Amino acid sequence: MSKKKSRAWVRQHISDPFVKKSKSDRLRSRSSYKLAELIDRLGLLERGMAVVDLGAAPGGWSQVAARAVGPEGYVLASDVIDFDRIDGVKVILGDFNEQSVFNSLIAASGGSVDVVMSDMSPNLTGVKEIDQPQSLHLADQALYFSRRVLRPGGTLIVKIFQGSGFDEFVLNLRRVFNAVKIKKPKASRSRSREMYAVATGFVDHGR
Ligand SMILES: C[S@@+](CC[C@H](N)C(=O)[O-])C[C@H]1O[C@@H](n2cnc3c(N)ncnc32)[C@H](O)[C@@H]1O
Repeated sequence: MSKKKSRAWVRQHISDPFVKKSKSDRLRSRSSYKLAELIDRLGLLERGMAVVDLGAAPGGWSQVAARAVGPEGYVLASDVIDFDRIDGVKVILGDFNEQSVFNSLIAASGGSVDVVMSDMSPNLTGVKEIDQPQSLHLADQALYFSRRVLRPGGTLIVKIFQGSGFDEFVLNLRRVFNAVKIKKPKASRSRSREMYAVATGFVDHGR
C-alpha cells in the first residue's frame, strides 16, 4: 500500500463508527457487527449450541458466538494466524487448506455441529482474477467441511465475494440446505464485494 493510501486507510479506520463501537463493546473487530447483525435478523445462534468459526482471527466473531451460546455451548475456532485466547473458545491453529488441520477440526468438532461460520478471506491483492478464485476456494472448503460436521438441520454462514463462480456456489449450497439467504450486513463496507450466504436446514444425507 502506498503512503497516501495507508494514511487514508488509517483516517477512515479511526473515524469508522463500527471501530469506535467495537472498543466500547470490548469486541476485537468491526467484523463482529456483521455476525451480530446476522444473528439479530435471522436468530441463528442459541444458548448451548456447538459452533465452529473458520478464519477466526483476531476473534471478533468467536467473541460474539461465545456470548450467544453461553457456557453450556461450545465454540471451536481456527485460523492460520494466532490470536489471544477467548474464554470458552477452543482454538486450532493452521492453514485450513492443509489436510492435517482439516482433520484436526473434524475430530475436535465432535461431528454434530449446529453452526459452521466462515469469515475466511485470502490476502486480497485487489486483482479480482486472483482474489475471486482464492476466496471461492475457501468458501468451497468451508462447505465441504460443513457437510462432514453439521448435524441435520444445521446452519452454514459463509463469506463469498460477488463475481465469477458466485451463482454456482449458491446453487451448490441450495443442493444441501433447505434455504439460502444472501446478506450484506451494514458493517460490511459498500465498496467491498463481500457478501454472506446464510444456509439453513442442512439436509445432506450422502456424507
Ligand atoms: C476477515 S478475517 C476474519 C475476522 C474475524 N471473523 C473476526 O471477526 O475477528 C479473515 C481471516 O481468514 C483467515 N484465513 C484466510 N485463509 C485462511 C486459511 N487458508 N486457513 C485459515 N485461516 C485463513 C485469515 O488469516 C484472517 O484472519
